[in-house]
Amino acid sequence: MSLKSRFVGTAKRQVKQTLRPVLQRAMAPARTQIPASYWGLEHVPGQGLSLEGVALKSLVERFGSPLHVVHLAALKRNVERFLAVPQGRSGGCEVFYSYKTNPIPGVLEVLHGMGVGAEIISAYELWLALRLGVAPERIVYNGPVKSEASVREAIGRGIQLLAANHAEELGLFARVAAELNKRPRVAVRVSTDSGWAAQFGTPLAGGAALRAYAQARASSHLDVVGLHAHRGATIRTEGELTGFVEAVLGFTDTLHQELGLDLEVLDLGGSLCTPSVEHIAERDWRLNLTFFRDVPAPDPAASLDISRYVALVVEMVESHYAKKGRARPRIFLEPGRAMTGDTQLLLGSVHTLKAGEDRTWAVLDAGVNHAECVRNEYHQLFHVDRPDAPAERVYTVVGPICTPGDTLYHAKRLPELVEGDTLAIMDAGAYFVPFATSFSYPQPAIIALDGGEARLLRRAETFEDQVALDTVAKSPGKPEAA
Ligand SMILES: Cc1ncc(COP(=O)(O)O)c(C=O)c1O
Repeated sequence: MSLKSRFVGTAKRQVKQTLRPVLQRAMAPARTQIPASYWGLEHVPGQGLSLEGVALKSLVERFGSPLHVVHLAALKRNVERFLAVPQGRSGGCEVFYSYKTNPIPGVLEVLHGMGVGAEIISAYELWLALRLGVAPERIVYNGPVKSEASVREAIGRGIQLLAANHAEELGLFARVAAELNKRPRVAVRVSTDSGWAAQFGTPLAGGAALRAYAQARASSHLDVVGLHAHRGATIRTEGELTGFVEAVLGFTDTLHQELGLDLEVLDLGGSLCTPSVEHIAERDWRLNLTFFRDVPAPDPAASLDISRYVALVVEMVESHYAKKGRARPRIFLEPGRAMTGDTQLLLGSVHTLKAGEDRTWAVLDAGVNHAECVRNEYHQLFHVDRPDAPAERVYTVVGPICTPGDTLYHAKRLPELVEGDTLAIMDAGAYFVPFATSFSYPQPAIIALDGGEARLLRRAETFEDQVALDTVAKSPGKPEAA
């Protein structure tokens, strides 16, 4: 390294170190934390954070670390809110949980037991739903990659709704239906201007969606009963919801006028936010990285919640159809993150503390391998052992994987940590488990906390599990290392 670049590097470091405390004070976000009580957590002196009277630390001691904890009371509360009939309405929504979001059979079983169906996007998920005993009329099949075998199975079983992601899929549906002499209930996935497009759905703009419907209607083998729209881009405000639903409702009028088609089912997909989770804005991320400014916490009270979302959807659909003098369709919802996001937490332990020039690295036994979403979303982090101690130290919280990319929190102010402390990453119930990798470390156990009782839903992966599919590398008789 030249003398000049060494000088520039040192100067930059000094500027950052001088500016950090000034900027931290001057630009401190209004909200840097969501209180533990939001999730029903309590601080029991001497025990640290506890849920339903159970100390989180005791769960790690009993089941090992890292550990996923599913809070069943929170899950049931969310289901009830989705299924409730809004005040003054004749009916509510039918709910199909997006399997991809958190495909833990112990969680899915609870949802199904309460009347929630399955929204699936793959042959595996179809298999899983059937394996869990979900009735075919409680299954909606979406997604851009449907194997012919799974389409055959879905049509053969008579599932509730088979949605063509793109017009090209309709040919496959019609051919398989003809072979089986069945008439599947079909929808076409449409994409609006405000949501995901690309490989997902058939655009309303330019007439592609209308042409797909005309094509579907032309087949005597398909019973075109529904419309599917999933915004993709998260819905946090009323405006985001109403803009999306208005675009869909406008298209149902086009279908009525152009094709004489009145839909029985309006499937509005998922996308409702988890109120305590928010994508970290580029600016906030940079300020955190460079000047250790806290990442602002979202205000859950400012987000659309489940009850208001359901009420608005039903109100919009009912009043639209009432105005047009047509029968209101059944409304399907496919929540993922809003259903399970805030019902699960991930416990991890501090393995090592490494002192640096301007911060301390807290190396945990759980990193992006189990919590990929934390890279770019705000997820509240709690010090389980001493939650109320002053958060005065800046830590860079990293995981065990050998890459700088395994950074969960670049600069996080926390109470003083010591090795062996337990941390809780909140809102781990959406896209943590399915995006997890077994990169060097096996997957953690998953437990359910149910009325103060802990119950194992999935045991932790063993080293043997890691090589179970291999034809080589089995070494019977050798004990596993601790
Ligand atoms: C078709 C469909 N429905 C529902 C969902 C659930 O989305 P979210 O978790 O944002 O509610 C997804 C997720 O990608 C999806 O693709």
